[in-house]
Amino acid sequence: MKTRFKPAGIIGIGSCLPENVLTNSDLEKMVDTSDEWIIKRTGIRERRILDKGQPAYSIGYEAALRAIEDAGISAEDIDLIIVATETPDYLTPSTACILQGKLGARNAAAFDLNAACTGMIYALSVARQYVSSGTYRYVLVVCCEGLSKVTDWQDRKTCVLFGDAAGAVVIGEVEEGYGIIDTYLGSDGEAGRCLTIPCCHMDESDIEKRTHENKRVLWMDGSEVFKFAVRIMEHATEKILDLTGTLPGDLKMIFPHQANVRIIEGALKRLGISDENMMPVIHKYGNISSASIPVSIDEAYRAGRLLKGDKILLVGFGGGLTWGSAIIRWNKNQPGDTGVN
Ligand code: UT7
Repeated sequence: MKTRFKPAGIIGIGSCLPENVLTNSDLEKMVDTSDEWIIKRTGIRERRILDKGQPAYSIGYEAALRAIEDAGISAEDIDLIIVATETPDYLTPSTACILQGKLGARNAAAFDLNAACTGMIYALSVARQYVSSGTYRYVLVVCCEGLSKVTDWQDRKTCVLFGDAAGAVVIGEVEEGYGIIDTYLGSDGEAGRCLTIPCCHMDESDIEKRTHENKRVLWMDGSEVFKFAVRIMEHATEKILDLTGTLPGDLKMIFPHQANVRIIEGALKRLGISDENMMPVIHKYGNISSASIPVSIDEAYRAGRLLKGDKILLVGFGGGLTWGSAIIRWNKNQPGDTGVN
């Protein structure tokens, strides 16, 4: 007998940003940079930073609570928690286990997944398999990043780029024809050395690249990553459009990973997609890695820009190197709506 796969989609969403704002003019006092350079080269005006001593899981917890509330379920209903992060507070316990305990999700299994900035798409793809197969009813995905903790605040090439943030979604069964239509994932480990955050091991080249005292920080060859990002964003977008038989004109919105406005504008132009179809957050949050896609979806949803039936495209790229894309037919109306268009 043929197995029937259940359609799976986002049934709840939430996000959380730390309160501390770090502006470009604050950074001008820390390194040799300027507000003008940062805006022109990246589009970033300010970013949010965790308090000293505040763990990243604290914002993951808030985002998770909001997603659970939006889904109309309780923490005890969750069967699995996946945290996508490249900046876990601890290697063990995983951030997923920490959240499982704090949420009181006593029926949930929990693990972390690291696909850097592509974490949301990887986690979505895994969560979808569990729900579609009928193994689990509700999977909570939390994208939770504390990049300020691995930033070299003396390196102007990287410290102006990143911020801290968390976004969360609950994946559950949805109506036929709605939810996650398909996902596409890719990786290239041979090119991975152009973006590194060392943890338990560092080789000579890792040490040499980091010129300041603190060596356990993010290092990036910005222009190499830039070239990769432009090329792969276009590739991953075309691939998922092709896989799902979707035309750019069918898309209500596109949610790219927001690392630099120049990357997004360049890729969208070549793809023939208007940048009015996206929800910009980079100007106020910087590059927030895996949280970038769920935070921008949450803001679009709460601003009433997403309605039931809208087709959206998600596309991510980042460390590893990794990339991925997904097409979703949005299955929710805005918060407060009765659910009928
Ligand atoms: O999310 C993970 C993926 N990450 C990304 O996608 C990031 C991809 N990379 C980028 O977005 C860009 O490469 C950067 C924003 C990191 C850099 O922009 P760029 O236009 O590629 O600049 P560049 O690295 O080629 O540097 C140009 C100049 C250099 O000076 P010289 O050598 O030409 O004199 C840099 O030293 O700009 C200088 N520079 C700065 N000047 C002022 C680099 N950072 C700064 C700074 N302020 N913060």
